[in-house]
Amino acid sequence: MRVLLTGGAGYIGTHTIVEMYAAGHDVVVVDNFSNSSPAVMERVFEITGKKTPVYAADVANEAEMDRIFTEQKIDAVVHFAGLKAVGESVRMPLAYYANNIDSTLSLLHAMEKAGVKKLIFSSSATVYGTPERCPISEDSPTGHCSNPYGWTKYMIEQILTDYAKANPDFQVILLRYFNPVGAHESGKIGESPNGIPNNLMPYITQVAVGKLKELSVYGNDYPTPDGTGVRDYIHVVDLARGHVAALNYKKPGVEVFNLGTGKGYSVLEMVKAFSRVNGVAVPYRIAPRRPGDIAECYASPDKAAAKLGWRATHDLDDMVRDAWRFQSQNPRGYEE
Ligand code: NAD
Ligand code: WQD
Repeated sequence: MRVLLTGGAGYIGTHTIVEMYAAGHDVVVVDNFSNSSPAVMERVFEITGKKTPVYAADVANEAEMDRIFTEQKIDAVVHFAGLKAVGESVRMPLAYYANNIDSTLSLLHAMEKAGVKKLIFSSSATVYGTPERCPISEDSPTGHCSNPYGWTKYMIEQILTDYAKANPDFQVILLRYFNPVGAHESGKIGESPNGIPNNLMPYITQVAVGKLKELSVYGNDYPTPDGTGVRDYIHVVDLARGHVAALNYKKPGVEVFNLGTGKGYSVLEMVKAFSRVNGVAVPYRIAPRRPGDIAECYASPDKAAAKLGWRATHDLDDMVRDAWRFQSQNPRGYEE
């Protein structure tokens, strides 16, 4: 299939390009580079040997999207494009609602005109809010999101569900990612956030490489085995392969899948695994809880296994090793 990846130059998008080619698919990217660098496409070329057509455009610009669908014969779309920083979304809610929702509406309009009937959407475990129990299955309640970013995911899931209901030959797959970490094993692509990282793993790697002084562990009084927050970290290459599996799944209507491993690790377990596997110290101190955080969150990955034939194959040691390889080979990210 020939697949359009919106936001394809980002962290998860670039890893998905690699896995799409590996599975024999063809790829086109649209990205406005608001949170990525055009330089990353050269790295993707070094890994894949393929020149990916890249459109530098905003997905919310419908005329640009029409042009892409006219110039390229597209069979399916994976919609990664979106703003994703939780704290920023609290400070700038309109920017988040506008970017994430306008881009989805513009994309749907353009797909409708072009007759493209398959969409895979990057949703998030954040739509489960504070889960009643773990592991979280797909039929768990959603809503009660703790920030505007999470609400954009919740709202887009609803928009796509309504659209699919009105268009029975349209297929929507909602992929709820848990906590993506790690990098391609080549060390050429990985997570390269702008400014100070919000998420745990890039913070750990930047402390390890000496860019940041120490990690603040947000709370050690949660009702978890060691008191620190527990999450379902998933290797980004496994996550990318989940998209390939979703592409091969051919049932019209809306289907939702968790992409997680089913295992939860605490913040301190992550820090210890990182130091053990990589032989690098990660100084940390215990800090107050971060507002909006929950104690624990991990997936039931069984539905994706049963229906998509997909399961994560990388373990914690792979995740911390590959995250460190990327950071240590690229101490300044994609900046030369
Ligand atoms: P990322 O920021 O690295 O990638 C997103 C890409 O989209 C960036 O390259 C950015 O420049 C582009 N983009 C943003 N708005 C755009 C627009 N209007 N038009 C064109 N391009 C635009 O983020 P990521 O980690 O690769 O995440 C990809 C998707 O997965 C996002 O939708 C994110 O919300 C979702 N997600 C991410 C995580 C995570 O922890 N990384 C977890 C759950 C869900
Ligand atoms: C993980 C754990 C923190 C940083 C977020 C979004 C979610 C999804 C993934 C997009 C928590 C602790 C973190 C630090 C710490 N994104 N931590 N010190 O909060 O599970 O999920 O990213 O959809 O929507 O909310 O991920 O990596 O920020 O935190 O102690 O400097 O690490 O408290 O327990 P989170 P995270």
